[in-house]
Amino acid sequence: MGAGPIGLVTLLAAHAFGAPRVVVVDVDDYRLSVANNLGADGVVKVSTNMQDIPEEVERICEVMGAVGVHVTFDCAGFNKTMSTALSATRAGGRVCLVGLGHNEMTVPLTPAAAREVDIIGIFRYKNTWPLCIELLRSGKIDVKPLITHRFGFSQKEVEEAFETSVRGGDAIKVMFNL
Ligand SMILES: *[C@@H]1O[C@H](CO)[C@@H](O)[C@H](O)[C@H]1NC(C)=O
Repeated sequence: MGAGPIGLVTLLAAHAFGAPRVVVVDVDDYRLSVANNLGADGVVKVSTNMQDIPEEVERICEVMGAVGVHVTFDCAGFNKTMSTALSATRAGGRVCLVGLGHNEMTVPLTPAAAREVDIIGIFRYKNTWPLCIELLRSGKIDVKPLITHRFGFSQKEVEEAFETSVRGGDAIKVMFNL
């Protein structure tokens, strides 16, 4: 769930770990096209409307080619993305909450618990660097396509860089040349 920088890097990591089929879900066509270019096995465009969840879950499972998804990563962290993640995940599957958008979320927890879906957390920093560096060193993951903008390091350019990053849109990873 989510094709921002976190979702896209999760796609790359899932493939590096041997996930046979990875489907990326987002509201934005441009970001989905980036996911496609990065090797997503399928993409699903969704709305921001909670009412659409049942129909969207059906489409996600269809594109996934499965009755339910084994492992879902919520890389956005909204009511809707987590609700969709919980609903799309098969009995006994796992949902990992990666994107931390809000302190509190309203989600259909009981049906997911009844299907024994496990929810796990990750804060992305502790103990992750050695593996991350190894994946980059060995070429199992190429993060260069994520870099969409480069700026110098003057006061003006630094401000521009942050504004570009905040705007989102076509900006994925905004880098400084030092
Ligand atoms: C999540 O849903 C609850 C209940 O509808 C609502 O009160 C809350 O504002 C929502 N949170 C976000 C971030 O949309």
